[in-house]
Amino acid sequence: MCGIVGYVGDGNVYDILIKGLHRLEYRGYDSAGIALVTPEGKLNVYKAMGKVSNLEGFCKEKDLSGKAGIAHTRWATHGEPSDCNAHPHYSEDGNLAIVHNGTIENYKVLKDALAQHGCTFHSETDTEVLVQLIEYIKLKNNCELVDAVREALKQVVGAYAIAVIEKNNPDRIIAARKSSPLVIGIGDNEYFLASDATPFVEYTKECVYLKEEELAVIEKGEPLKILTLENQESKIDVTTLQMSISQLEKGGYPHFMLKEIFEQPNTLLDCIRGRVVAGGKHVVLNGVIDNIDKFLKAKRIVIVACGTSWHAALLGKYLIQGMCRIPVEVEYASEFRYSDPVLDEQDIVIAISQSGETADTLAAIQIARKMGAFVYGISNVVGSSIPRETDSGTYIHVGPEIGVASTKAFTGQVMVLTMLAISIAQVKETLSKEQIEELGKHILKIPKTVEKVLKLADKIERLSLIYTYARNFLYLGRGYSYPVALEGALKLKEISYIHAEGYPAAEMKHGPIALIDAEMPSVIIAPNDHLYEKIVSNVQQVKARGGSIIAIVTEGDTVIRNIADHVLEVPDMPECLTPIITSIPLQLLSYYIAINKGKDVDMPRNLAKSVTVE
Ligand code: F6R
Repeated sequence: MCGIVGYVGDGNVYDILIKGLHRLEYRGYDSAGIALVTPEGKLNVYKAMGKVSNLEGFCKEKDLSGKAGIAHTRWATHGEPSDCNAHPHYSEDGNLAIVHNGTIENYKVLKDALAQHGCTFHSETDTEVLVQLIEYIKLKNNCELVDAVREALKQVVGAYAIAVIEKNNPDRIIAARKSSPLVIGIGDNEYFLASDATPFVEYTKECVYLKEEELAVIEKGEPLKILTLENQESKIDVTTLQMSISQLEKGGYPHFMLKEIFEQPNTLLDCIRGRVVAGGKHVVLNGVIDNIDKFLKAKRIVIVACGTSWHAALLGKYLIQGMCRIPVEVEYASEFRYSDPVLDEQDIVIAISQSGETADTLAAIQIARKMGAFVYGISNVVGSSIPRETDSGTYIHVGPEIGVASTKAFTGQVMVLTMLAISIAQVKETLSKEQIEELGKHILKIPKTVEKVLKLADKIERLSLIYTYARNFLYLGRGYSYPVALEGALKLKEISYIHAEGYPAAEMKHGPIALIDAEMPSVIIAPNDHLYEKIVSNVQQVKARGGSIIAIVTEGDTVIRNIADHVLEVPDMPECLTPIITSIPLQLLSYYIAINKGKDVDMPRNLAKSVTVE
């Protein structure tokens, strides 16, 4: 939510910042802005509503020289999307400019206090309050910017990642973070700063992840300095990035979402590499093996997540309960944190998050750790906050996911949960050696199987034309296919803006069946599993009410094929592995419907990829 970029060095500041903003646009695109300190000591601030390309248009005739600069792409929290609410914000005397990601919860109190000292405000944002506070402290104490920032942050309640520049110090950026991410790239006599490493990966692989409540003095020609809010120098841990630039480009696809859907054979291969070994006989998930005592003693597992990750979590429940016989509860992180949870040392909390930065999931982790639970993270972004705040965990290793609608991260999360369940079951002996080997062999075949499923794309594209103008959709599934139905409905909603509901198929008769008519298509996920006969009756119930049906079935299906209007056949798989296969046609269906409607699938309205606010 909101992306920050900063640069100080001899490179073209404007170009580096704009390119960086494009990379971070997935974090929000309500408005964008840039502040440049010119070699003559002027501070130029330019802003535009909407996407970064609008900002570029606006900047065409402007003075774009700069020695240092900061830039921002916004996902609105305080104040509507508008030019005046766009970042950077500057101080009353025009000496300082700031960009901010996060929410200052006590901004109203601070604003009133500053107003009493004569400050005036030009926006509705919490961020402007922060920059005015910094300026006020700096003038009052006649101190260095870094000290003023430190003092201001001590007064702030809430979350922040900030970068501040100053007219009189054109080679320096002051940055700080609490609960919102910030990473510093170390180049050759230059520094980069960003919400994640994607804006600078092509310039340097060396970086430092700023820790909670740390503040950085980033100055060209000087060693990087990191301080605590108490003014103690922190140790600098330099990390080498594994990311490559090609992972951040569309690679010939029209959209990141389509690229990421088609990447799944490879991302799933990366996800299982080195983890399913000896031809499928063993599953080795180090995070689980290293903490196996905890898993064996666990009296229950609670999985917390949001959105698509929550759908993966629900599948995690079926997988872990089914294979390991450990009770599992699944909670929305946003509800869990305020639900007065009951947890102790014998509980394990698994937090799932693609970005590793979701504020609600982070808060849930903090509560769980305080209560003594062992916390295990499943994330994609290496070095993000969730892996750093959990006791142990597993990366899904699917590479950067840039399309706002999650696709490859979902299948990666489900794959990791499957391997996690098998890892526990093999020690607990709740699955036999033969069962494990059978599953292991199928897991090794998944990348090839997914490749086959992707061949349905043309058929799904043609099918999408029939349903593009439906106003509502119902997605139905049972057992392992129920979370897939929820995920399919979410994909359609978020990128095509068509209302869609995911439902357990048998629950339909308790209400939603009333919605069914010729105008309301149902997507029914009905692979050949132990609930197949049951779902056949649900398919018949929809048909009897005149509803049209798109069914996802196993190759060779003969029953549903004769009832449904359209069938999409996927290869046969053990029941617990079907979600990875059946979710892919649903990703493609939502993609093509959204494209037919002319929607921006990579940047759907009102959404952002990394939800770092409550
Ligand atoms: C939907 C989607 C979101 C995220 C949710 C959690 O396609 O991407 O629902 O799943 O915002 O994000 P993470 O997994 O980063 O915690």
